[in-house]
Formats: sequence, C-alpha cells, structure tokens
Amino acid sequence: MINRFQKTTPSGAFPGTRMRRSRMEPWSRRLVSESRLTPDDLIQPLFVVDGAGAPEDIPSMPGIQRLPLNHAIKAAEAAMQSGVPAIALFPYTDPALRSADGRESFNPDNLICRVTQAIKNAVPEIGIMCDVALDPYTDHGHDGLMSGSGEILNDETLAVLTRQALIQAEAGCDIIAPSDMMDGRVGTIRTALEEAGHHQTLIMAYAAKYASAFYGPFRDAVGSSATLKSNKRSYQMDPANSDEALREVALDIDEGADMILIKPGMPYLDILRRVKDAFAMPTFAYQVSGEYAMIKAASERGWLSEEEAILESLTGFKRAGADGVISYFAMQAVTLLSA
Ligand code: PBG
Repeated sequence: MINRFQKTTPSGAFPGTRMRRSRMEPWSRRLVSESRLTPDDLIQPLFVVDGAGAPEDIPSMPGIQRLPLNHAIKAAEAAMQSGVPAIALFPYTDPALRSADGRESFNPDNLICRVTQAIKNAVPEIGIMCDVALDPYTDHGHDGLMSGSGEILNDETLAVLTRQALIQAEAGCDIIAPSDMMDGRVGTIRTALEEAGHHQTLIMAYAAKYASAFYGPFRDAVGSSATLKSNKRSYQMDPANSDEALREVALDIDEGADMILIKPGMPYLDILRRVKDAFAMPTFAYQVSGEYAMIKAASERGWLSEEEAILESLTGFKRAGADGVISYFAMQAVTLLSA
C-alpha cells in the first residue's frame, strides 16, 4: 500500500525546507530565538583605587577607570539601577603596600574590604563578588607565594588565600571568587568559611582558568603588569587542554563551589559547553579584559560596530551554555538591550 505521506511530505530537501522562512520577520525571529540575554545574566567588574581623587583612566581599557571609593559607590548604585544583579571588585593596591608575602591581601582594613563595606551599606541590594588571589598584593605579581627559586608555592599559598577570603566575607562580600588556580583552595576556603559561621557565602570558582594573553589589560588595571616578570603557566591551564578542564571543575564542585567560572570567554566557548553539559552547575563565563580591549580598539577604528559586537559576543556565551557572564560591557549591554 502506498503511504500517502510519502508523496506529500517534503523529504527535508529544498524547496520543502527553507531555513529562511522563520528568519524573514522580526516577530518570527523572536519566536524561534533559542537564547536570550537579559540584565539578570550580567556581572559588572569594577576597579577600585585608594584616595579621594578623580577616577583614573586605564589606557588599554578605554572607557573603564579605577574608581576611588565615592565613585565606586556611585558605580555600584548605577549597576543596581541598571538591573545587573552583581558587581565584581578588583583593587589597584598602592605599590608601597605590595610585598613578597602579599600580606595586604589579608589586612581586614584593606582597600577591598573598605569598599565592600561601604557598598554593602549604601547599596545592600546588589551582590558583591571579590577575587581571591595574591597578584594585586605581591611585589612579583603572581597569584601565590614564591619560593627563593621562583616556584609558586601551592600549600603555603592556601593559608594566605584562606585569610584573604575570610576578611572579605567578614567585610560583607557575597561571592568569594578564587582566581588563583592553586590546588585545593576551594575546599580549604569552604572549610574556613563554614568554621567562621559564613554558611551563606557563595564560592564562584575560577575552575578552568587558562594561562592567557587576554589578561594583559587587566594586569595594567590592577598594576601587576609592572611587577610580573614571568608567566603563570605553572598554575593556570594550558590553552590546549579540554579534558583537564572537566577534572578541574569536578574537583571544585567536590570541594564546595556553588558556581563555576570558565575564563577567558570567547576562545573557550567549547569548554563552557562541555562543562555545562557535564555538570549542569550554575556556570559563568568571563569576557576578559583583552576581549574588551579588542572590541573597543576595533570599533574605535571603525572596523566593527561596537554595539553589535557587544550583544553578539554576550549572546554567544548564553548560547554556549553560560548562565551568566562577567563583562566590562555589562552595564552598557543593559542599555543596548533596552534600546
Ligand atoms: C587575578 C585575575 C586575573 C584576572 C582576574 N583575576 C589576571 C590574571 O590571572 O593574571 C583577569 C581578568 C581580565 O583579564 O579581565 N588572579
């Protein structure tokens, strides 16, 4: 018997199938859209600096400035108004306070703690994330302590990172974000937070953080490009590796991470997808300083449209599986989304 559908059902080939039908009108494009970027997906990083002076430009990050306290509070207010759920704070530490042991990192009265407290008081609605790593505090610019022979010491560093995490939680930080890539730090920090009664403090682990050229402008912003004399390949991941990222993520989840971060962003979308598929954890991407600088530099020259590049790149993270994105464009993107 002849199945009447055999004749009338298009085989799937052209012209029965025309992929362009659903792309023809804005309403149908909206209807079939698979990923949606909203303000809820974005975290705005802010660089902070001591003193009561004017904000300082960062030449390799046009449009981004180091903010003294009163400006940082205003920026946090603006972020809250924009609908961004959280900000991430990074300090430019006075060079006089940088030392071999990075002890300013666990001074309870350091810049980050003072800014965190002030923003918590002024803008209690916004989430505050703080980096845990020693690079803004060491005189050698590395994320950990250094031995006489130049090795970055793992276990010795853990003790310092733990003190840093505790004073940040004490100051009101909501999300502790270890970005140092020492082994075992998430578990050590989690245990210390629990023991100190910080049961609700979240940990966003920079689980798969690659040794990347794209951090250059950030190091200008926090002042570590001046101090850093060697690369970070003995602790940050090899860009060639992907299976290894799954092991890193599995360990951080096991040690008590609430959220997982993949970094940098655009060159590592495959990692984001694998991690999201494998673990179904709240998973974030960091569109890092070099990615920001590339888009800015090309659009300043008129080589691409800044606004389109911002929304396309951020949507790409959502499509690749990110629940959210840390981006220097976060607040600008919110404005673009509501336009
Ligand atoms: C420090 C840290 C870095 C970034 C976030 N935390 C730099 C580095 O590891 O050298 C990079 C962020 C960016 O490039 O935007 N541990």
